[in-house]
This record gives sequence, C-alpha cells and structure tokens, in this order.
Amino acid sequence: MRQTRAQPSYGLVGSGQAARHFGRYLRLRRIPFKRWTRRSGVPAEKALADCGTILLLIKDDALAPFIKAHPFLKGKRLVHFSGSLTVPGVVGLHPLVSFAPKRLSLKDYERIAFISETGGPSLQDIFPRLKNPSYGVLPRMKPYYHALCVMAGNFPVLLWRKFFREFSRVTGAPASAAKPYLDSVLANLGRGPSAVLSGPFARRDAGTIRRNAAALKGDSYQPVYRAFARAEFRRTK
Ligand SMILES: NC(=O)c1ccc[n+]([C@@H]2O[C@H](COP(=O)([O-])OP(=O)(O)OC[C@H]3O[C@@H](n4cnc5c(N)ncnc54)[C@H](OP(=O)(O)O)[C@@H]3O)[C@@H](O)[C@H]2O)c1
Repeated sequence: MRQTRAQPSYGLVGSGQAARHFGRYLRLRRIPFKRWTRRSGVPAEKALADCGTILLLIKDDALAPFIKAHPFLKGKRLVHFSGSLTVPGVVGLHPLVSFAPKRLSLKDYERIAFISETGGPSLQDIFPRLKNPSYGVLPRMKPYYHALCVMAGNFPVLLWRKFFREFSRVTGAPASAAKPYLDSVLANLGRGPSAVLSGPFARRDAGTIRRNAAALKGDSYQPVYRAFARAEFRRTK
C-alpha cells in the first residue's frame, strides 16, 4: 500500500543566522518544515497554513509587530529564540550559541544547550526528536541571563578586533603574528570555569594597571579598561 507523506507541521519564519542554522539542523535530523521569509513572494498565511508550530526566528524588535500583523498565527503554537525577551503567548527557547556564517555539523548542533523559560515548554516538548541539553531560566531573570551571554560572547570579539588592528599599527607586524597569543588565550578559556587569569589583574599589580590605563589616554577603550579594573577589584575585595 502506498503511504501518504505526513504534512510538515513546523513552520520557520526568517532567513537570518538563526533561521539558516536551525533549518539546517532540522534537515540534518530529517525533520520536515516549511520556511517563509518576507521575500518568499507568497503571503505567510498561505505558506504556513498547515503548520501547527511556527518558529519566529526574526529579529527581536520585529516579533511583536509581526504577530500583530498576522492574525492567522492565533491558534498556532509560536516559538521565538530571543535570549532576552519574554513574549506573552510565545514559547521562548534560546540556543546558547553564537551562530556564524559557517555551517555546523550535526554533532555540533546536538551539543547546543537550549534555555527555555522555567514553567514553559522545553525544546523537547516542541521537538521530541531533538536531544539537546535543556535548562530553564526564570522569565524575570532572562534580561540578566542575556546580558551575561552578550558580555561573554561579544565583548571578547570587540577586544580582539581592537587588539589585532592596533597591534599591526604599532608594531608593523601582520595580525597573523599574534595568532599564537590568541590560541593560548583560547586554550586557557577552553578550561571553562577553571580558566587561569595571568598578568597584572591576576597579580593585583595596581601600578601596572594604572600605567596601562594612562597609556590609553585619548583611546575610546580607556574607560573600558578602567571599568574592568573597577568591576574585578570590587568583586574580589
Ligand atoms: N545569531 C545568533 O547567534 C543567535 C543566537 C541565539 C538566538 N538568536 C535569536 O534568533 C533570532 C533571530 O536572530 P538572527 O541572528 O537570525 O538575526 P538576523 O541574522 O539579523 O536575521 C534577522 C531576520 O529577521 C527578519 N526580519 C526582520 N524584520 C522582520 C519583519 N518585520 N518581518 C519579517 N521578518 C523580519 C530578517 O528578514 P530579511 O532577511 O527579509 O531582512 C532576517 O531573516 C533573534 O531572536 C535572536 O535573538 C540568534
């Protein structure tokens, strides 16, 4: 007997980093879904009519207006991936990862932890076939949780971008000369919570820290250096 193919019940809105990666993950796990983007050329209500669960993987500020502008979404189970927002009536699942343009392997996707809102559905409730680690955060703690994510994920990139630029300018060396330095820092960071701090901050060498900060006079990063010193020494006092 010929089997009829089950209709996909997942819909995915968006074509940015999160939508591309999560779509690839679903394809690798052979979980069917339909995709819609603003450029699809068909109305969302038509493209996603038969989808019971719709993932809104669009930028945070667009979530509420998008839901308001599409009444057909009422009666669907909606999911967003924002780490900081809590949207009434929408399941929040935050993939704890920094998606880059490079594609990941199935193994990499399966390692990503998903942080759901305590008391709400988890990733497994929405996708029973996905076995990623799942944890909960209280909705009121989401803004704090996300601030931590952004500090850890974005600040080092900003600091290293600054470093590579200025290193080449003041030494004349190519950025590649600093790569072993970066590798040693990354290897240390790879130890997780037991990463070792070295340098004047580890030695609490106030004189060097003062001179470093003074040397950054006129540089937009001088207040950043001083803020780190203040935050760190207040924490360990
Ligand atoms: N990127 C990450 O590493 C990451 C990690 C965890 C969670 N997230 C979350 O994932 C969600 C998507 O982020 P992203 O990084 O994928 O963003 P992104 O790469 O900037 O893509 C944003 C997407 O939103 C769409 N969009 C913007 N305004 C829209 C509107 N008014 N109507 C319909 N679509 C609209 C864009 O469509 P067009 O292409 O048509 O402009 C684009 O597809 C966010 O909630 C974010 O917090 C992202």
